[in-house]
Amino acid sequence: MAHYLEIDTQTVPPDEYIKVFSMPSPPSIVLTNGRTDHGLTRLLQCAEYCDSIIDPLQPLRDNLELSVYAQFEKDTKKYSQYEKAIKLALKSTAKSVLVAGPGRGPLLQIVVEMSSAKITGVEKNPQCIDILKERNAHEWQDRVEIVHKDAREVCGKWDLVVSEMLGSFGCNELSPEVLDGFSSTVIPQSYTSYIRPIYSPMVPLQYYVPFLAHFSVFYSITNPMPCWTFRHPNNNSMQKKAVLKFVAMYEEYINAFEGTFSAVLFQNVTISNQQETSDYVPSWFPMIFPVEKTRLEKKKEYVVEIERKASSENVWYEWKFLGKRYNQNGQSHSIKKH
Ligand SMILES: C[S@@+](CC[C@H](N)C(=O)[O-])C[C@H]1O[C@@H](n2cnc3c(N)ncnc32)[C@H](O)[C@@H]1O
Repeated sequence: MAHYLEIDTQTVPPDEYIKVFSMPSPPSIVLTNGRTDHGLTRLLQCAEYCDSIIDPLQPLRDNLELSVYAQFEKDTKKYSQYEKAIKLALKSTAKSVLVAGPGRGPLLQIVVEMSSAKITGVEKNPQCIDILKERNAHEWQDRVEIVHKDAREVCGKWDLVVSEMLGSFGCNELSPEVLDGFSSTVIPQSYTSYIRPIYSPMVPLQYYVPFLAHFSVFYSITNPMPCWTFRHPNNNSMQKKAVLKFVAMYEEYINAFEGTFSAVLFQNVTISNQQETSDYVPSWFPMIFPVEKTRLEKKKEYVVEIERKASSENVWYEWKFLGKRYNQNGQSHSIKKH
């Protein structure tokens, strides 16, 4: 088992722990903010994936492997929050329910158990269609109409649309592009993307491409700052821009911005991949937007710009910090719409 060195940031000044981070091979460090047990337990649980650099999934361009769905389905908190949201939404007597992107069927299962409505599932991944047909025949008494299509082709009138196409940064798996055409009540009702400045020695040098990671060693310089929100049903603009200011409390390093999201599934039922929140769900690792390693000045105000840009084919994020623009025109990373 990995050896973890705990540092309570309430009592140890950053200059001390920055020295440890800067060692040639730093030990695994947990910055605890005084909440030792909580943080440690989570880190040890994810030890298998800690510090891996993961390319963000692109479920619209690719068909996900079945093993990836099995991984999603381990997140019991996510499905219990969806169950609460679906229950509340069904109260307003939905006669037709569409599950958009049901994967292997966990959200369809919830709808079938809770509703006598006409239920349709629309999924683009052919491997999932086979599984859904099998489950429909054996578990759901053929109550579900299974449609093998892109959900953007079935935007007609449904009372309720249930979907989970969220990415680590909220909108990065193109949930907005898929759901914008629906005029129905939609779960999720809205989702907000956040960034916060961080430093981690695990960010690869000179690699300015967005990636997913759960760092065992990092510190954050501020709390997450909201960038933008998508709402459904709505006619959303797909291009977004946020200009955010923050103050470094110490003289400390920065080498990335960590992207996360929070989502309102329905009314007061929410989920988030921010570890500090009570509605935390572990399915999504944060999305890391790396920047050049820089030592910040104490009490100085800094500005970061982040943009969501879109063309007819792609969506990408550009970010600008200390005069340098990253991923201009999606040159190092973009998300395919088809
Ligand atoms: C993140 S997975 C979630 C799967 C499932 N709802 C769950 O909770 O396990 C998103 C699913 O949406 C499907 N999907 C993405 N975009 C789609 C589209 N435009 N039309 C139909 N299905 C889509 C993907 O193939 C994938 O199965």
